[in-house]
Amino acid sequence: MGAGRPEHRKLAQQAHYSATTLADAAKGDRLPSLDVTLAYVAACGGDRAEWESRWRTVAAESLPPRPVSPGEPEERAPYVGLAAFQPETADRFFGRERFVDEAVTRLRSQHFLAVVGTSGSGKSSLLRAGLIPELRADGTSRPVLLTPGARPLHECAIRLAPLLGVNAGTLMADLAADPANLGLAVRQALVHHEDDLPPRTEVVFVVDQFEEVFTVCDDDRERDQFIGALLTATRQGGSRTRVVLGVRADFYARCAEHPGLVGAFQDAELLVGPMTSDELTKAINQPAADSGLVVERALTTAILADVAGQPGCLPLVSHALLETWRRRRGNALTLSGYLATGGVRGAVAQTADNAYKAFNDDQQHAARRILLRLVALGDDTDDSRRRVRVDEFDADPDTTAVLGELVRARLLTLGENTVEIAHEALIRNWPTLRGWIDEAGNCCSRSDA
Ligand SMILES: Nc1ncnc2c1ncn2[C@@H]1O[C@H](COP(=O)(O)OP(=O)(O)OP(=O)(O)O)[C@@H](O)[C@H]1O
Ligand SMILES: [Mg+2]
Repeated sequence: MGAGRPEHRKLAQQAHYSATTLADAAKGDRLPSLDVTLAYVAACGGDRAEWESRWRTVAAESLPPRPVSPGEPEERAPYVGLAAFQPETADRFFGRERFVDEAVTRLRSQHFLAVVGTSGSGKSSLLRAGLIPELRADGTSRPVLLTPGARPLHECAIRLAPLLGVNAGTLMADLAADPANLGLAVRQALVHHEDDLPPRTEVVFVVDQFEEVFTVCDDDRERDQFIGALLTATRQGGSRTRVVLGVRADFYARCAEHPGLVGAFQDAELLVGPMTSDELTKAINQPAADSGLVVERALTTAILADVAGQPGCLPLVSHALLETWRRRRGNALTLSGYLATGGVRGAVAQTADNAYKAFNDDQQHAARRILLRLVALGDDTDDSRRRVRVDEFDADPDTTAVLGELVRARLLTLGENTVEIAHEALIRNWPTLRGWIDEAGNCCSRSDA
């Protein structure tokens, strides 16, 4: 170490670490902890800030992620990364208990609830891994989860039909004929199955990414029919339908242009804000604890410090935690592992760059093509992800390999026959992709001109 050639026993007294620890640190066989390094540097009269920065650089370079082998299924990861939590991953979902309780309580007394929040605030996770399991557990609610997509009324019919035991095509025709038919079909089916169901059973539509009625659905008629059907079902006398919408705050103004929604939103909004430090601490520590892992206290402290004053940081935290887990030491999630991921600010770009660099030239071209196809360029809103049917991509080996690898890296998520960018945080935080988007945008505007 350039900070001097010390006598370890003497130094040990000043540094409050044993002489053996200091001698080990000086050997350079493996990276000592930051605390030991700084104690050593201080005892030698070195510059702490300079050595801390050197230590972080070395730590970042020295910990490769564990390769994900087929024998170690990723489902066992305690964190879900960029993707939203799902009902199936509810056992790893923590920190939103307040909001889930509030949503459940309000749904007892009202038939409509709008869960509003900025992109990445955790609305989908809250609805899918928080609210839906609670509703299922209460016995009298039958949640129906859907995202509107291009054909929201179709989607509604397809999701509801199996529950009612009817044909989706017939149901779709009924819904299109009259918005009142949604609530009527629900009531009819519940009465029909009365003997098999707990008394007062209700259907709860959970419509996630409701803003897709504006961004993905370009059929004004179907959009109005869908919204009309949902709202009418909540208002009919004897209604046995409740509706929860997850809406992005940047589409609030679009909702306010719809007279029916304006009425429905009155006194029915639940605004999802950032987590408190305690909630975030729970979201960091509890999933690990439940998997028999420990999180170094210094790691939790570092994450809390890194996200302070950063709204919209949740996807970045979630991804950094997954990558830190991949770099765990034994059963410990460590600060050095976290720093090696690039931390909250850098982990997404680092994962994406690593995946991209591992591709050959043809695959890199395929990756650019695929990712650009999965981005919807926004005019006056931010660029957003676009859900694309898997069969719309060429079935050539490069495309297939790239799609598979990006899904494995959890940068893309697969739905039923569809693929999409796991979260828009990838678009905002991966400079390579941003560069492609800018090039594509320039190229379009040049050809438009
Ligand atoms: N309670 C939580 N603990 C840890 N991570 C969370 C939690 N809730 C959400 N996340 C993470 O935050 C990110 C965003 O979550 P989610 O997709 O639910 O947000 P959203 O508000 O629906 O975003 P969008 O508006 O873009 O659809 C995901 O990476 C998710 O895993
Ligand atoms: Mg969402």
